[in-house]
Parts: sequence; C-alpha cells; structure tokens
Amino acid sequence: QPVKLNPLMQMHQDAADFYQQILLTTKIGERGLNYARQRELDDELLKHFKIGYAPDRRDLLLTYLKEQGYTDEQLAESGLFVQTQDGRLFDRFRDRLMFPMSDETGHPVAFSGRRISDNPDEPKYINSPETSIFNKSDLLFHFSEAKKHARKEGHLVLFEGHMDVISAYKSGIKTGIASMGTSLTQQQVYMIRRITRQVVINYDGDDPGIHAAERAVGLFKQAGSFDLGIVILPDKLDPDEYVKQYGAESYQAAITGAISTTDFFLLRLKKKYNLNNEREQVAYLSEAVQEIATLQNPVEQDLYVGRLAKETGVSLDALKMNLSRARRRQR
Ligand code: GTP
Ligand code: MN
Ligand code: MN
Ligand code: MN
Ligand code: MN
Repeated sequence: QPVKLNPLMQMHQDAADFYQQILLTTKIGERGLNYARQRELDDELLKHFKIGYAPDRRDLLLTYLKEQGYTDEQLAESGLFVQTQDGRLFDRFRDRLMFPMSDETGHPVAFSGRRISDNPDEPKYINSPETSIFNKSDLLFHFSEAKKHARKEGHLVLFEGHMDVISAYKSGIKTGIASMGTSLTQQQVYMIRRITRQVVINYDGDDPGIHAAERAVGLFKQAGSFDLGIVILPDKLDPDEYVKQYGAESYQAAITGAISTTDFFLLRLKKKYNLNNEREQVAYLSEAVQEIATLQNPVEQDLYVGRLAKETGVSLDALKMNLSRARRRQR
C-alpha cells in the first residue's frame, strides 16, 4: 500500500512532477526541451531521471503548490523558494533544467537546476539549500538506482556531476553516482561502502577533476579496504563530453580500462619530475618506491618494481633493495 510521505517529501514529489509536466507537455516548456535536446537527453532519459523545467517566472511553482494545499510555513522551509525582506516567497529556480536529487529510498528531497541562458552572471548550477530533509553531505545523486544495479555489476562509478551520471547511464553504465560538485565527504564514502568495496572514480579530465580524484582516493583509503579504479579521460574532457565526442562503446572501454591507484599515483608523480635529469630521476624513484612499499601484496610490489626498472633502466636489484628499506621504515 502507498506510504504517506512527510509533507516536505510529498511537496518535492509534486514539484518534480510539475516541472516534468512543464518540460514534456507545455508551450512554455519548449525552451527547456530544446536545451535538453541540445544536451542529447532523450525522453527515456528525461523520464528515468525525472528531469523537468522551471520556466522564467517568479511564482509558477508557488501558485501550484499553494493550490495543492501546502501551508506558507511548509513552503518557506522547503528550500524551493527564496524569501524577500518582507517575508514574501518566490520561486528559487527560474529558467533552469531541473534535476531532482533523491534520498536513499528514491524520493526527491532537493533539486539542482542547470542554467539554460548563457548569461555568465548567473551561476551555472543552483542547488537547494539544506533543509530538514536534505543534508548535502550524505546525499549522492542516483544512489538509490545505482545501488540496485551495483548488486549485479559489483561496482559503483563515482562522477563529479549529474550530467556525467546521465551520459554514463545512456552508454549502458547504470551504476553511476555523483557527489554534486561539493567535494566527496567521509559520510558519502561510508554510504558507498555499505553497498560495495569496488569503486571506479571517473572525475573530469581537467586539473580540478584530477586533484579532486586524488583527494577522493585519500578518503577511500582512510576508510580502508576499497578496491579502487581510476579513469582519466583525455583532453580534459568530462565523461559527458567524452561520450558525446567518442560514443558509448569507446566510453565503456575507458571504464573497463580503469587504472589502479598505484598507477594513478605514479602517473601523477612522473609529471612532477624532469626524468632527463639524474638527480630528479633518483628523487622520482625514491618517491615511487615508497608508494609501492605501502602495498600489502608482495606480488603487486614485485610487479610495480619490475615495471619501474624497465621504464628507467635502473637495475631491479637496486630497486628491490630500496623497496625493502622503505618497507622497514614503514613498519
Ligand atoms: P555541465 O556544464 O552542465 O556539463 O556541468 P558539469 O557537471 O560538467 O559541471 P562542472 O564540471 O563544471 O562541475 C561539476 C559539478 O560541480 C556540477 O555537476 C555541479 O554539481 C557543480 N557545479 C558546477 N558549477 C556550479 C555552480 O555554479 N554552482 C554550484 N552550486 N555547483 C556547481
Ligand atoms: Mn559533469
Ligand atoms: Mn568539472
Ligand atoms: Mn564537468
Ligand atoms: Mn559537463
């Protein structure tokens, strides 16, 4: 039997339905639909993600929800409206493509709205403020859906933004989640750990994305016993852009080709040093060996040291000596 939702949750459900009706069936929604098409969102995706459109009006949602019988107090505490000095409410989201953000049971509790105009004075995204039903540090976009698929697939894929989750979904990767721009939190890591220990991190290929991925790896390592894969896309692309440019198959191959955190670390390390300079090469090798020494599995250690030797031409014996020294230091 249908469970009665708390009024704020019901209000978000109603708002999501309202925004989607506008997007899919109204004249005023055509502007949103055009933008959705430009982003290659077909009807199936729009419905799966309950995407909608908030027109450029001050009181469209306000009027609708009042008609549904919500009280001023409920409306004021929903986060869906902004309040003027004299206490009047008006719609927070205007002329934006609307992405509901759902809690772990799949009920919308907040929205993220994508700017449609190219006015740079407007923020690209506006999110709901925190409310009694929305705590941004323990919400992951698409989590309730992704965890169902994760049972079959084994892993979850972590993204920066919801457009990335959606493009991955379109490409057949249904286990995508996103931390909504705010940097990943320890709470979110624990949420993920309850579902799976296998996580692929696929942040944007630009510098901020790579740094955020390094930070995320640190958080997962702190929580312990994760099996992590990292995907770095070429040309600073984000997953959504990559899919648009290279297609679904190529993207799936990129996910399948996720590298280990050790390879990710070594790749980043190499960029810090000029390996044509001998002193820098020694420093590089010493940092690399220290990282390899943190690995629990001796076979893994062997593998990476072997590769380092090949890559630099330094003898395997010398590197192994360094490795056992580094291991002793870490004990
Ligand atoms: P698109 O440009 O629509 O493809 O978004 P994106 O996901 O590629 O955005 P970007 O990589 O710039 O940022 C990653 C995430 O950070 C977004 O998905 C948002 O959740 C968040 N974000 C980006 N810009 C803003 C902003 O202006 N305000 C807020 N609150 N969040 C933002
Ligand atoms: Mn994105
Ligand atoms: Mn980004
Ligand atoms: Mn991006
Ligand atoms: Mn993008």
